[in-house]
Amino acid sequence: MKRRRIKKGPIIILVLVVVVILGLIIGIIKLVPKNNKTKVKTNNTTTTKKVSKEKTKDNYDLREGEELISKTTTGMHLTKYEGAYYVDGILIVNKSYPLDSTYEPKEPYKEITSDYLYGPDYLDKTVMEKFISMKESAKDAGYELKITSGYRSYKVQVDLYNNYAARDGIDAADTYSARAGYSEHQSGLCFDLNGTNKNFLETPTGAWVNEHVADYGFILRFPKDKETETGYNYEAWHFRYVGVELAKKLYNNGNWISLESYLGVDSKYE
Ligand code: DAL
Ligand code: ZN
Repeated sequence: MKRRRIKKGPIIILVLVVVVILGLIIGIIKLVPKNNKTKVKTNNTTTTKKVSKEKTKDNYDLREGEELISKTTTGMHLTKYEGAYYVDGILIVNKSYPLDSTYEPKEPYKEITSDYLYGPDYLDKTVMEKFISMKESAKDAGYELKITSGYRSYKVQVDLYNNYAARDGIDAADTYSARAGYSEHQSGLCFDLNGTNKNFLETPTGAWVNEHVADYGFILRFPKDKETETGYNYEAWHFRYVGVELAKKLYNNGNWISLESYLGVDSKYE
C-alpha cells in the first residue's frame, strides 16, 4: 500500500500564524487602559461613574491624575493631586509641601454662622459639620467654642505673613506664621479656636477640647515640643481635621504625635 506523505511545511506555517495572531491579541489587551466602572452614591441617586484606576508597583490605588512622587520615611505614598500634596490620601501642607496658589477648599461651607469670632469666614463642609457637632457637645458640657480663623486665601496669607515679617523679622515670623501657599488655613481643613492663647489647653474649656477633639476627627496640629517636626512653635488653638481613626492614633493619650512624624515627612523651607 502506498503511504501518503503528510506535508509538514504548511502545518508549521499555520501554527506560526496562529501563535503570532494570539500574541497580537494578548498584546492589544494589555495595552488598552482599564476603565473600572464604580457605583457612586450621590444624595439619593446612584449613578455609574467611570473611574480610571491606576496602581503603583506596590498596589497602592492612585486617583485619576494623581502623581506618585516618592515613598515617605514611614513607607507611605507621597503624591500630588489637584494642587496639593497627599500622604496615603491625607492632605499635607507645611514648609516642605505647599499648596498651589490657586488651591481652594473643594466643598466649602459658606453659610454665615455665629461660629466665627471675627465675623464670616468658612471651612470645608465636612470640617464645619464636625465642628458644629463638637461645639454642641461642648455647649452641653457648659463650654463655648468659637472659630477665630478658618479658611484663609493665598492672598490673605500674603498680607498676614508680610505684616508679621515686617514687625518681627523673617526668622521670627517663620516660627509662628506660614508663608503664602504654605498655610494649612488655605486648605479649609483647619481652624483656630477661641483666640490664640498658649495656655488654652490648661483652661477648663481647652482641657475639654483636648480630651474630646479626636472623637470628632481633629488633631492638635502643632503640639508642644514638636517644633523640629512640625516646623512651628506650639499652637494650643490650631486644630486640623484628619478623620476620627487617625485623630485617635495621634491623640496618643494626650501626648500628641505630630502629623509629620506619623506620615514620615519633613517641614522645612528649601
Ligand atoms: N500659624 C500657622 C502655622 C499658619 O500660619 O498657618
Ligand atoms: Zn491656625
